[in-house]
Amino acid sequence: MKPETAATLSGPVMCVVGARPNFMKMAPILRAFAAHRPVLPALLVHTGQHYDQDMSDRLFDDLGLPRPDINLDVGSASHAVQTAEVMRRFEPALDAHRPCCVVVVGDVNSTLACTLVAVKKNVPVVHVEAGLRSYDRKMPEEINRVLTDQVADRLYTTERSAADNLQREGVDVERVCFSGNVMIDSLLANRVHARSTADTLRAHRIDPGLLGQQGRYGVVTLHRPSNVDDAETLRTVLGVLGEVAAQLPLVFVMHPRTRSSIERFGLGAMVDPTRVALLPPQGYLEMLGLLDRATLVLTDSGGLQEETTALGVPCLTMRSNTERPITVEQGTNTLVGRDRTAILRGVAEIMSGQGKRGRVPELWDGHAAERIAADLWQWLRHGANAVSLV
Ligand code: UD1
Repeated sequence: MKPETAATLSGPVMCVVGARPNFMKMAPILRAFAAHRPVLPALLVHTGQHYDQDMSDRLFDDLGLPRPDINLDVGSASHAVQTAEVMRRFEPALDAHRPCCVVVVGDVNSTLACTLVAVKKNVPVVHVEAGLRSYDRKMPEEINRVLTDQVADRLYTTERSAADNLQREGVDVERVCFSGNVMIDSLLANRVHARSTADTLRAHRIDPGLLGQQGRYGVVTLHRPSNVDDAETLRTVLGVLGEVAAQLPLVFVMHPRTRSSIERFGLGAMVDPTRVALLPPQGYLEMLGLLDRATLVLTDSGGLQEETTALGVPCLTMRSNTERPITVEQGTNTLVGRDRTAILRGVAEIMSGQGKRGRVPELWDGHAAERIAADLWQWLRHGANAVSLV
Protein backbone atom coordinates (compact mmCIF):
# COMPACT_ATOMS: atom_id res chain seq x y z
CA MET A 1 0.00 0.00 0.00
CA LYS A 2 1.24 3.48 -0.86
CA PRO A 3 2.13 5.38 2.34
CA GLU A 4 -0.01 8.38 3.08
CA THR A 5 1.67 11.72 2.58
CA ALA A 6 0.53 15.17 3.49
CA ALA A 7 0.62 15.96 -0.21
CA THR A 8 -2.89 14.55 -0.13
CA LEU A 9 -3.96 17.78 1.58
CA SER A 10 -5.16 20.50 -0.73
CA GLY A 11 -2.55 23.00 0.52
CA PRO A 12 -0.28 23.85 3.43
CA VAL A 13 -1.48 24.58 6.96
CA MET A 14 -1.15 28.34 7.35
CA CYS A 15 -0.10 29.23 10.89
CA VAL A 16 -0.55 32.78 12.17
CA VAL A 17 1.35 34.62 14.89
CA GLY A 18 1.12 38.30 15.70
CA ALA A 19 2.00 39.23 19.24
CA ARG A 20 4.39 37.97 21.88
CA PRO A 21 2.09 35.48 23.63
CA ASN A 22 1.45 33.75 20.29
CA PHE A 23 5.07 32.76 19.73
CA MET A 24 5.42 30.28 22.61
CA LYS A 25 2.14 28.66 21.57
CA MET A 26 3.01 28.28 17.91
CA ALA A 27 6.57 26.96 18.36
CA PRO A 28 5.56 23.50 19.64
CA ILE A 29 2.72 23.31 17.11
CA LEU A 30 5.11 23.82 14.20
CA ARG A 31 7.48 21.25 15.64
CA ALA A 32 4.67 18.75 16.04
CA PHE A 33 3.48 19.33 12.45
CA ALA A 34 7.02 18.63 11.21
CA ALA A 35 7.37 15.51 13.38
CA HIS A 36 3.95 14.12 12.45
CA ARG A 37 3.85 11.27 9.97
CA PRO A 38 2.87 12.19 7.43
CA VAL A 39 4.39 15.62 7.82
CA LEU A 40 1.85 18.43 7.95
CA PRO A 41 3.39 21.09 5.69
CA ALA A 42 3.14 24.50 7.35
CA LEU A 43 3.57 28.13 6.34
CA LEU A 44 4.24 30.69 9.06
CA VAL A 45 2.67 34.14 8.82
CA HIS A 46 3.76 36.91 11.21
CA THR A 47 1.34 39.83 11.15
CA GLY A 48 3.91 42.13 12.77
CA GLN A 49 1.52 43.29 15.54
CA HIS A 50 4.60 43.03 17.76
CA TYR A 51 7.72 44.04 15.88
CA ASP A 52 10.42 45.10 18.40
CA GLN A 53 13.57 43.08 18.81
CA ASP A 54 12.52 42.58 22.46
CA MET A 55 8.88 41.75 21.78
CA SER A 56 9.37 39.59 18.70
CA ASP A 57 12.75 38.66 17.16
CA ARG A 58 14.38 37.49 20.38
CA LEU A 59 11.46 35.24 21.14
CA PHE A 60 11.76 33.63 17.70
CA ASP A 61 15.41 32.84 18.43
CA ASP A 62 14.77 31.54 21.95
CA LEU A 63 11.90 29.32 20.88
CA GLY A 64 13.59 28.01 17.75
CA LEU A 65 10.76 29.37 15.63
CA PRO A 66 11.60 29.42 11.92
CA ARG A 67 11.70 32.82 10.21
CA PRO A 68 8.18 33.64 9.02
CA ASP A 69 7.44 32.73 5.42
CA ILE A 70 5.26 35.82 5.20
CA ASN A 71 5.61 39.03 7.18
CA LEU A 72 2.71 41.47 7.09
CA ASP A 73 4.48 44.27 9.04
CA VAL A 74 1.31 45.85 10.40
CA GLY A 75 2.85 47.43 13.52
CA SER A 76 0.98 49.36 16.21
CA ALA A 77 -2.27 51.28 15.75
CA SER A 78 -5.72 51.60 17.29
CA HIS A 79 -7.70 48.38 17.56
CA ALA A 80 -9.77 49.22 14.50
CA VAL A 81 -6.85 50.19 12.33
CA GLN A 82 -4.63 47.33 13.49
CA THR A 83 -7.35 44.71 12.95
CA ALA A 84 -8.31 46.17 9.58
CA GLU A 85 -4.71 46.39 8.44
CA VAL A 86 -4.05 42.74 9.33
CA MET A 87 -7.16 41.75 7.38
CA ARG A 88 -6.21 43.84 4.36
CA ARG A 89 -2.68 42.40 4.23
CA PHE A 90 -3.60 38.81 5.11
CA GLU A 91 -6.13 38.38 2.31
CA PRO A 92 -3.64 38.38 -0.60
CA ALA A 93 -1.36 35.98 1.31
CA LEU A 94 -4.28 33.60 1.75
CA ASP A 95 -5.20 33.89 -1.92
CA ALA A 96 -1.62 33.27 -3.01
CA HIS A 97 -0.97 30.17 -0.89
CA ARG A 98 -4.42 28.51 -0.84
CA PRO A 99 -3.93 26.73 2.50
CA CYS A 100 -6.02 23.75 3.55
CA CYS A 101 -6.71 25.54 6.84
CA VAL A 102 -5.55 28.49 8.94
CA VAL A 103 -4.32 27.89 12.50
CA VAL A 104 -4.68 30.80 14.93
CA VAL A 105 -3.71 30.83 18.62
CA GLY A 106 -4.79 32.86 21.63
CA ASP A 107 -6.81 36.02 21.68
CA VAL A 108 -4.90 38.94 20.19
CA ASN A 109 -6.14 41.25 17.44
CA SER A 110 -4.23 39.27 14.82
CA THR A 111 -6.08 36.09 15.88
CA LEU A 112 -9.47 37.58 15.13
CA ALA A 113 -8.41 39.49 12.03
CA CYS A 114 -7.00 36.43 10.24
CA THR A 115 -9.95 34.32 11.35
CA LEU A 116 -12.41 36.73 9.74
CA VAL A 117 -10.51 36.79 6.47
CA ALA A 118 -10.23 32.99 6.28
CA VAL A 119 -13.81 32.03 7.16
CA LYS A 120 -15.24 34.43 4.61
CA LYS A 121 -13.18 32.65 1.98
CA ASN A 122 -14.39 29.26 3.19
CA VAL A 123 -10.94 28.33 4.44
CA PRO A 124 -11.38 26.32 7.66
CA VAL A 125 -10.07 28.00 10.80
CA VAL A 126 -8.46 26.09 13.64
CA HIS A 127 -8.32 27.90 16.99
CA VAL A 128 -5.81 26.77 19.58
CA GLU A 129 -6.63 27.88 23.15
CA ALA A 130 -10.34 28.13 22.43
CA GLY A 131 -13.19 28.62 24.90
CA LEU A 132 -11.44 30.64 27.60
CA ARG A 133 -13.77 33.32 28.99
CA SER A 134 -13.26 36.09 31.53
CA TYR A 135 -16.89 37.19 30.99
CA ASP A 136 -15.53 40.74 30.93
CA ARG A 137 -16.43 42.27 27.59
CA LYS A 138 -14.38 45.37 28.39
CA MET A 139 -11.27 43.30 27.69
CA PRO A 140 -10.37 43.49 24.00
CA GLU A 141 -9.13 39.90 24.22
CA GLU A 142 -12.56 38.68 25.35
CA ILE A 143 -14.16 40.10 22.20
CA ASN A 144 -11.45 38.44 20.12
CA ARG A 145 -12.04 35.09 21.86
CA VAL A 146 -15.83 35.08 21.58
CA LEU A 147 -15.86 36.04 17.91
CA THR A 148 -13.04 33.72 16.88
CA ASP A 149 -14.66 30.74 18.56
CA GLN A 150 -18.05 31.42 16.98
CA VAL A 151 -16.70 31.04 13.46
CA ALA A 152 -13.73 28.68 13.90
CA ASP A 153 -14.18 25.15 12.56
CA ARG A 154 -11.94 23.17 14.92
CA LEU A 155 -11.38 24.31 18.51
CA TYR A 156 -8.61 23.00 20.75
CA THR A 157 -8.99 23.68 24.47
CA THR A 158 -6.54 23.88 27.37
CA GLU A 159 -8.92 23.10 30.23
CA ARG A 160 -12.25 21.30 30.46
CA SER A 161 -14.25 24.37 31.52
CA ALA A 162 -13.62 25.84 28.07
CA ALA A 163 -15.93 23.29 26.43
CA ASP A 164 -18.74 24.31 28.82
CA ASN A 165 -18.24 27.96 27.89
CA LEU A 166 -18.39 27.08 24.21
CA GLN A 167 -21.49 24.95 24.63
CA ARG A 168 -23.24 27.82 26.43
CA GLU A 169 -22.54 29.97 23.37
CA GLY A 170 -24.09 27.39 21.07
CA VAL A 171 -20.86 25.98 19.68
CA ASP A 172 -21.33 22.38 18.55
CA VAL A 173 -19.32 20.10 20.88
CA GLU A 174 -18.27 18.06 17.86
CA ARG A 175 -16.01 20.97 16.89
CA VAL A 176 -14.23 20.98 20.25
CA CYS A 177 -11.20 18.88 21.17
CA PHE A 178 -9.52 18.96 24.61
CA SER A 179 -5.84 18.86 23.72
CA GLY A 180 -4.07 20.41 26.73
CA ASN A 181 -1.85 23.45 26.89
CA VAL A 182 0.69 24.17 24.14
CA MET A 183 2.18 27.02 26.16
CA ILE A 184 3.24 24.46 28.74
CA ASP A 185 4.80 22.36 25.95
CA SER A 186 7.16 25.30 25.39
CA LEU A 187 7.79 25.77 29.07
CA LEU A 188 8.70 22.13 29.70
CA ALA A 189 10.87 21.92 26.58
CA ASN A 190 12.86 25.03 27.53
CA ARG A 191 13.03 24.88 31.31
CA VAL A 192 16.48 23.32 31.34
CA HIS A 193 17.78 26.11 29.10
CA ALA A 194 16.42 28.95 31.26
CA ARG A 195 18.90 31.75 32.13
CA SER A 196 19.77 32.41 35.73
CA THR A 197 18.26 35.47 37.39
CA ALA A 198 21.72 36.79 38.31
CA ASP A 199 22.86 36.63 34.66
CA THR A 200 19.70 38.36 33.48
CA LEU A 201 20.18 41.20 35.97
CA ARG A 202 23.88 41.54 35.14
CA ALA A 203 23.06 41.76 31.44
CA HIS A 204 21.24 44.99 32.32
CA ARG A 205 24.00 46.23 34.63
CA ILE A 206 21.95 45.54 37.74
CA ASP A 207 23.79 44.09 40.74
CA PRO A 208 22.13 40.79 41.75
CA GLY A 209 22.98 41.89 45.31
CA LEU A 210 19.78 43.95 45.07
CA LEU A 211 17.95 40.70 45.76
CA GLY A 212 19.59 40.37 49.18
CA GLN A 213 21.51 37.48 50.70
CA GLN A 214 18.78 34.90 50.28
CA GLY A 215 18.11 35.90 46.71
CA ARG A 216 14.34 35.94 47.29
CA TYR A 217 12.39 38.15 44.94
CA GLY A 218 9.04 38.71 43.28
CA VAL A 219 8.49 39.12 39.54
CA VAL A 220 6.10 41.83 38.34
CA THR A 221 4.55 42.26 34.90
CA LEU A 222 1.65 44.59 34.07
CA HIS A 223 0.25 45.58 30.72
CA ARG A 224 -3.56 45.34 30.74
CA PRO A 225 -5.15 48.60 29.60
CA SER A 226 -7.39 48.39 32.71
CA ASN A 227 -4.30 48.62 34.96
CA VAL A 228 -1.93 50.88 33.07
CA ASP A 229 -3.85 53.23 30.76
CA ASP A 230 -5.34 55.49 33.47
CA ALA A 231 -3.07 57.75 35.56
CA GLU A 232 -4.85 57.34 38.92
CA THR A 233 -5.18 53.58 38.55
CA LEU A 234 -1.52 53.23 37.65
CA ARG A 235 -0.56 55.45 40.60
CA THR A 236 -2.53 53.15 42.93
CA VAL A 237 -0.93 50.04 41.43
CA LEU A 238 2.60 51.45 41.71
CA GLY A 239 1.87 52.53 45.29
CA VAL A 240 0.96 48.99 46.33
CA LEU A 241 3.95 47.59 44.48
CA GLY A 242 6.12 50.01 46.46
CA GLU A 243 4.74 48.56 49.71
CA VAL A 244 5.43 45.03 48.49
CA ALA A 245 8.95 46.02 47.43
CA ALA A 246 9.66 47.26 50.96
CA GLN A 247 9.29 43.61 52.09
CA LEU A 248 10.55 41.70 49.07
CA PRO A 249 12.82 42.94 46.26
CA LEU A 250 11.02 42.96 42.92
CA VAL A 251 12.09 42.36 39.35
CA PHE A 252 9.69 44.43 37.25
CA VAL A 253 9.76 43.37 33.59
CA MET A 254 8.15 46.30 31.91
CA HIS A 255 5.94 46.13 28.83
CA PRO A 256 6.29 49.07 26.39
CA ARG A 257 2.68 50.08 27.03
CA THR A 258 3.38 50.37 30.77
CA ARG A 259 6.67 52.17 30.28
CA SER A 260 5.05 54.77 28.07
CA SER A 261 2.18 55.28 30.57
CA ILE A 262 4.62 55.77 33.45
CA GLU A 263 6.53 58.34 31.41
CA ARG A 264 3.39 60.09 30.19
CA PHE A 265 1.90 60.37 33.69
CA GLY A 266 5.23 61.32 35.29
CA LEU A 267 5.16 58.38 37.75
CA GLY A 268 8.77 57.22 37.31
CA ALA A 269 9.78 58.36 40.80
CA MET A 270 7.34 55.85 42.34
CA VAL A 271 9.67 52.99 41.37
CA ASP A 272 12.52 52.73 43.89
CA PRO A 273 15.60 51.43 42.05
CA THR A 274 17.13 50.16 45.30
CA ARG A 275 14.23 47.71 45.75
CA VAL A 276 12.98 47.21 42.22
CA ALA A 277 15.08 45.93 39.33
CA LEU A 278 13.52 47.47 36.23
CA LEU A 279 13.99 45.42 33.08
CA PRO A 280 12.81 45.85 29.50
CA PRO A 281 10.79 42.98 27.92
CA GLN A 282 12.84 39.81 28.26
CA GLY A 283 13.63 36.87 26.05
CA TYR A 284 11.77 33.63 26.68
CA LEU A 285 14.69 31.93 28.45
CA GLU A 286 15.36 34.95 30.68
CA MET A 287 11.70 35.19 31.66
CA LEU A 288 11.49 31.48 32.35
CA GLY A 289 14.52 31.69 34.63
CA LEU A 290 13.10 34.69 36.47
CA LEU A 291 9.77 32.92 37.02
CA ASP A 292 11.19 29.55 37.98
CA ARG A 293 13.22 30.97 40.88
CA ALA A 294 10.72 33.60 42.05
CA THR A 295 9.17 33.57 45.51
CA LEU A 296 6.02 34.99 43.97
CA VAL A 297 4.72 36.62 40.82
CA LEU A 298 2.46 39.68 40.62
CA THR A 299 0.92 40.02 37.19
CA ASP A 300 -2.09 40.78 35.01
CA SER A 301 -0.90 38.49 32.20
CA GLY A 302 -2.90 35.48 31.08
CA GLY A 303 0.11 33.41 30.13
CA LEU A 304 1.95 33.98 33.41
CA GLN A 305 -1.04 32.66 35.35
CA GLU A 306 -0.58 29.38 33.50
CA GLU A 307 3.21 29.31 33.60
CA THR A 308 3.34 29.89 37.36
CA THR A 309 0.82 27.11 37.88
CA ALA A 310 2.98 24.76 35.82
CA LEU A 311 6.09 25.82 37.75
CA GLY A 312 4.39 25.67 41.17
CA VAL A 313 5.22 29.33 41.91
CA PRO A 314 2.53 31.32 43.78
CA CYS A 315 0.92 33.96 41.56
CA LEU A 316 -1.12 36.99 42.64
CA THR A 317 -3.12 38.17 39.65
CA MET A 318 -3.95 41.85 39.64
CA ARG A 319 -7.30 41.39 37.95
CA SER A 320 -10.81 40.82 39.25
CA ASN A 321 -11.44 37.92 36.88
CA THR A 322 -9.59 35.29 34.93
CA GLU A 323 -10.36 33.39 31.74
CA ARG A 324 -8.16 30.63 33.13
CA PRO A 325 -10.10 29.44 36.22
CA ILE A 326 -8.17 26.19 36.49
CA THR A 327 -5.10 28.16 37.61
CA VAL A 328 -7.11 29.32 40.64
CA GLU A 329 -8.99 26.06 41.29
CA GLN A 330 -6.04 23.70 40.88
CA GLY A 331 -2.96 25.84 40.42
CA THR A 332 -1.07 28.49 42.35
CA ASN A 333 -3.07 31.52 41.24
CA THR A 334 -5.06 33.93 43.46
CA LEU A 335 -7.07 36.86 42.11
CA VAL A 336 -6.27 40.00 44.09
CA GLY A 337 -7.37 42.80 41.75
CA ARG A 338 -5.95 46.13 42.84
CA ASP A 339 -7.08 45.54 46.43
CA ARG A 340 -4.20 46.69 48.64
CA THR A 341 -5.27 44.53 51.60
CA ALA A 342 -5.66 41.41 49.48
CA ILE A 343 -2.29 41.96 47.80
CA LEU A 344 -0.39 42.56 51.05
CA ARG A 345 -2.13 39.62 52.71
CA GLY A 346 -1.26 37.39 49.76
CA VAL A 347 2.37 38.47 49.85
CA ALA A 348 2.60 37.92 53.62
CA GLU A 349 1.12 34.41 53.30
CA ILE A 350 3.50 33.43 50.55
CA MET A 351 6.52 34.84 52.35
CA SER A 352 5.64 32.86 55.46
CA GLY A 353 5.53 29.67 53.37
CA GLN A 354 1.74 29.40 53.25
CA GLY A 355 1.29 30.23 49.58
CA LYS A 356 -0.70 27.97 47.27
CA ARG A 357 1.27 25.00 46.02
CA GLY A 358 -1.31 23.71 43.61
CA ARG A 359 -1.03 20.86 41.15
CA VAL A 360 -0.44 20.72 37.43
CA PRO A 361 -3.74 20.54 35.50
CA GLU A 362 -4.77 17.65 33.28
CA LEU A 363 -2.90 17.44 29.94
CA TRP A 364 -0.47 20.23 30.78
CA ASP A 365 2.13 17.58 30.16
CA GLY A 366 4.30 18.86 27.30
CA HIS A 367 2.48 16.88 24.60
CA ALA A 368 -0.46 19.11 23.68
CA ALA A 369 0.92 20.06 20.26
CA GLU A 370 1.44 16.41 19.33
CA ARG A 371 -2.19 15.70 20.18
CA ILE A 372 -3.25 18.67 18.07
CA ALA A 373 -1.19 17.48 15.09
CA ALA A 374 -2.65 13.98 15.32
CA ASP A 375 -6.22 15.21 15.63
CA LEU A 376 -5.84 17.86 12.94
CA TRP A 377 -4.53 15.34 10.46
CA GLN A 378 -7.53 13.10 11.04
CA TRP A 379 -9.91 16.05 10.94
CA LEU A 380 -8.49 17.41 7.70
CA ARG A 381 -8.85 14.01 6.11
CA HIS A 382 -12.31 13.20 7.36
CA GLY A 383 -14.02 16.12 9.01
CA ALA A 384 -13.22 19.54 7.61
CA ASN A 385 -16.26 20.50 5.55
CA ALA A 386 -14.63 22.86 3.16
CA VAL A 387 -11.40 20.97 2.62
CA SER A 388 -11.09 19.23 -0.69
CA LEU A 389 -8.66 16.33 -0.70
CA VAL A 390 -6.98 15.37 -3.88
C1 UD1 B 1 -1.23 42.67 22.97
C2 UD1 B 1 -2.51 41.83 23.09
C3 UD1 B 1 -2.59 41.25 24.51
C4 UD1 B 1 -1.32 40.54 24.89
C5 UD1 B 1 -0.16 41.49 24.73
C6 UD1 B 1 1.18 40.90 25.11
C7 UD1 B 1 -4.43 42.57 21.75
C8 UD1 B 1 -5.76 43.19 21.81
N1 UD1 B 1 -3.70 42.60 22.86
O1 UD1 B 1 -1.38 43.78 23.83
O2 UD1 B 1 -3.66 40.34 24.54
O3 UD1 B 1 -1.43 40.10 26.23
O4 UD1 B 1 -0.11 41.89 23.35
O5 UD1 B 1 2.16 41.85 24.98
O6 UD1 B 1 -4.07 42.04 20.72
N2 UD1 B 1 4.65 48.19 21.26
C9 UD1 B 1 6.02 48.31 21.13
N3 UD1 B 1 6.68 47.32 20.47
C10 UD1 B 1 6.06 46.26 19.93
C11 UD1 B 1 4.67 46.16 20.05
C12 UD1 B 1 3.98 47.13 20.72
O7 UD1 B 1 6.62 49.24 21.61
O8 UD1 B 1 6.75 45.40 19.33
C13 UD1 B 1 3.93 49.22 22.01
C14 UD1 B 1 3.28 50.23 21.08
O9 UD1 B 1 3.40 51.47 21.65
C15 UD1 B 1 1.83 49.81 21.09
C16 UD1 B 1 1.68 49.22 22.49
O10 UD1 B 1 2.93 48.64 22.79
O11 UD1 B 1 0.96 50.85 20.83
C17 UD1 B 1 0.60 48.18 22.57
O12 UD1 B 1 0.80 47.15 21.61
P1 UD1 B 1 -0.45 46.29 21.07
O13 UD1 B 1 -0.02 45.16 20.24
O14 UD1 B 1 -1.45 47.20 20.49
O15 UD1 B 1 -1.10 45.74 22.41
P2 UD1 B 1 -0.45 45.06 23.70
O16 UD1 B 1 -0.75 45.94 24.85
O17 UD1 B 1 0.98 44.64 23.49
